[in-house]
This record gives sequence, C-alpha cells and structure tokens, in this order.
Amino acid sequence: MPSDSRIQITPATCGGPPPEDRPATAREDRSDLQSPRLRAKLARRLAQALAPALSAILDRPASPPTSPLATSLAQVSAGCTGGNDFAGALEPAVQEFQELYDRRPLTTNKGGMQFNDSLCLYLVARILAPTFVLESGSFQGHSAWLLRQALPDADILSCDIDHGQLRHRAEGVTFHEGDWVGASLPEIDPLRSLAWFDDHTDHCRRLAEAQARGFRHVLLDDNFPAENLYATGGPPVPTLAMALDPELADGEELVWRRRGKVYRYRFETKDTLDVATRIEKFVVLPDVTAITRYNPPSGMTYVRLKPPVPPT
Ligand SMILES: C[S@@+](CC[C@H](N)C(=O)[O-])C[C@H]1O[C@@H](n2cnc3c(N)ncnc32)[C@H](O)[C@@H]1O
Repeated sequence: MPSDSRIQITPATCGGPPPEDRPATAREDRSDLQSPRLRAKLARRLAQALAPALSAILDRPASPPTSPLATSLAQVSAGCTGGNDFAGALEPAVQEFQELYDRRPLTTNKGGMQFNDSLCLYLVARILAPTFVLESGSFQGHSAWLLRQALPDADILSCDIDHGQLRHRAEGVTFHEGDWVGASLPEIDPLRSLAWFDDHTDHCRRLAEAQARGFRHVLLDDNFPAENLYATGGPPVPTLAMALDPELADGEELVWRRRGKVYRYRFETKDTLDVATRIEKFVVLPDVTAITRYNPPSGMTYVRLKPPVPPT
C-alpha cells in the first residue's frame, strides 16, 4: 500500500456500462407498490419519518413561506391550525412524489439518486420553494428533472464537469458543462435560492463558495462521517460531517477499502475552511431505508449558511 499519497480518490464514480444494460437488483427502485391503500400507508410512514427533520428546515429566518405546501406546513408548525400534525400536512406531497416518481424519464439511475434521496430532494425543494436552484452534479439528468417537477417556475441551472452521461435534458433547465464557479449566475436572492451539491466535491469548499456567492440554503449529498467513507465512490472529503467531528485529529490518515481498492486521505483542519463558523444550522435528513427497503440514501444534509462576511 502506498503510504505517502494524501488522497487517492477518483473524481466521481458514475461511469460504467449504459444503465439500461444493467440488470435491476431486487432492491433497485424499478420495483414498486401498486395497491393504492398500501401506497397511501407507505406515504404516511414516510411523512412521519421525515417530518421532524423537515420541520427543522422550515424554521427559517425572515422569509415568509412561498409555496402552498410551505404555507400549510408553517401554519401547522405555528399551531395556527389547532393541531400539530406536520406529518399529516406533508403526506399529500409524499403522495405527489410517488406519482411523479412512477413517471420519471430515467428509470435506472445507478450511480445517481434513487427513491430515498429523490424523495428528500423533492420535499426540500417544495418546502423551500426557491426561485433559483443551482445544481452541481447533473449526471444523467434525473435530479434536474425532479427539481423541474417540484419547482415548475424556478430558474434551474444544472452543472457538471462532463455532460457525456446526460441522457435527459429537462425542459427549461439550463445545463452548463464545467464547474459551477465558472458558470454565470443570476443575482442571488439569498433566501429564495438553493445550492444543491451532488458532485462528490469537497463539502467545505462548496459551502465556502456558496456562501461567497450569497446562498443561504444549501443541500449536500454524500455527507458521510469519516467512519463511513467506504460507502460511496469519491466521497466529497472533507465532508461536513468530518469537519464537525471533534474526534478527528489534525493530520490523521484515514484509510478505507472499496471494491478491493485501498484509498487514503489525510484529514487536515485547514482544509475545513472554518466551515463551522459559516453555518447557522444544519439538518441531516433521516434514512428511510427501513420503510422503503430501497437502496439507502446518502446522508443528504440541509445547511443554512450565515450571510457572507463583507470584505474588510
Ligand atoms: C452522483 S453523480 C450526480 C447524480 C445526479 N444528481 C442524479 O440525478 O442522480 C455525480 C456527478 O458529479 C459530476 N462532477 C464531478 N465533479 C464535478 C464538478 N467539479 N462540478 C460539477 N460536477 C461534477 C460527475 O461528472 C457526476 O456526473
């Protein structure tokens, strides 16, 4: 094993044979429930599991709810409806997602998001109701399509360093080939814009970049702690979870094996770019695998950034 390499991580592992050529496994999400009553029951269980985390996202500063779903959820949170059934208010949106997901144009998205992560992205988008979304990591185009469905009127910019695998270009989405920092952005309305990173690129760097451009709402995929780095190809190190882990020592070498190959990464505090000081709050979305039995989600995490510090 080489001992001096600081990092040996492939950029992102979404390659391989064309997805349609791959056989579906039993837990891939091409299998689904058809019985309406049981689908409704599944939606209820999902809404109950996700409600605590999503209600924490909705608690946001000085910005009125901007979508009917956000309004009804906000009313429930504030106790205006006489009840406190946040999960009940969320359930119709989960059912809408189930219907939408059945109609997704890309029925295989191996290497990209599947049911569990897609549900989280859909609900976060519906609740925040941004007017502009920056996506980094288009891959085949599934998440851009989903964002388009969740936010029919939003401006959506989807970036990827390589659009060679892009198979579906959702209508009205702008696709940019290249890193997002080189893309031209509209003026960012901080609380009505969302930056969504699913590009296997250093979370701390992405959060610093997003803050510098004025974003307050960020969604990160693959927020794995150091002890789970083997779970994805090309993890976005240092992940936010690593940066906030008090047990990781400066200079500690992390070694893991994935599919027979050994990877090493040296954790250095300076690489976290003081991310803890940039964050107002963060919410890790729960793992609903035990409810859906689909492939596990990847630690999707909502981050609310502090406003950028003006240059001195
Ligand atoms: C996990 S896939 C994204 C999955 C996608 N969001 C979906 O719909 O399921 C990661 C993608 O990030 C892209 N990527 C890697 N580095 C990037 C960078 N610096 N900027 C933008 N995209 C990048 C890869 O080319 C790959 O297509």
